[in-house]
Amino acid sequence: MQSSVFKDDLFEDKHVLITGGSRGLNFGIAEQFAGMGANLTLIARDQEQLDKASEKLRKKYSTSSRGYSSDVRDNETLSQVIEESADEFGEISVLICGAAGNFPAAAGDMSSNAFGSVIDIDLKGTFNTCRSAYEYLEREASIVAISAVQSTQPTPFQSHACAAKAGIDSLVKTLALEWADDDIRVNAIQPGPVKNTGGMDRLTPDDESKESLANALPAGRFANKEEVAKLVIYLSLPVSSYITGAVIPIDGGQTLIGSGKLMDSLLE
Ligand code: COA
Repeated sequence: MQSSVFKDDLFEDKHVLITGGSRGLNFGIAEQFAGMGANLTLIARDQEQLDKASEKLRKKYSTSSRGYSSDVRDNETLSQVIEESADEFGEISVLICGAAGNFPAAAGDMSSNAFGSVIDIDLKGTFNTCRSAYEYLEREASIVAISAVQSTQPTPFQSHACAAKAGIDSLVKTLALEWADDDIRVNAIQPGPVKNTGGMDRLTPDDESKESLANALPAGRFANKEEVAKLVIYLSLPVSSYITGAVIPIDGGQTLIGSGKLMDSLLE
């Protein structure tokens, strides 16, 4: 039964590859694509978690899904598993660069390696994924990178993520230019706080801090995963064929008020 503004078979037999796809927001995005008939490749570090996620997609949506273990920082393994996934499901129609790492830490308490680990996962991992997948992308493929509001909002204790996500926004625009001749569109989205995700659970570990942050947002609430996933779906369909190199906030208005008020809500 059709339960959304999108038809249930929009991605029938299409290959959708998602890094960081075994949990959180990225798994929520995988579920939406699976519900529309896509064959899903999930790439993440933990094979057990990947197997559970893939099994859930197969059972719930009667679709094909397979999880491959690779750290997006390990370019050699990443390239190998992307090649294997193309052997299995064919050319990639939609590539979602979702793998990310984060921990709240003051710059003054962070080692160079700590800062670099987030840059390497988020920014270099997005480059590695796009570069490795390039030769397997179908014509008119869509790439969507999961950036974050930190890319434009300087946020205390997030110097690594702010820098990494700003880099992703810039990378997306350059790739959009370079790959326009291949008819490949490259965009990014900037989610604000999303409900039931590991990232938000680390930043707001209890109900009180979640409520305080939600109240400080113009929307007065966190996003649902489905709301964010539907923007990714839109950017992956021909209906958005003239959108490339765009970086789109989906944040309930967070970028309108800056991070200061939000941090105040957390530090109260
Ligand atoms: N504060 C300060 N430094 C920290 C830290 C914290 N809370 N957490 C990790 N670090 C530092 C480590 O000390 C290490 O630096 P060092 O070698 O100078 O000591 C560096 O960061 C890398 O840490 P490591 O444990 O080797 O992690 P990793 O490189 O395997 O993975 C992350 C890094 C970011 C992925 C890891 O923190 C993690 O697994 N986070 C949870 C998953 C996640 O972030 N998901 C995405 C949600 S948006």
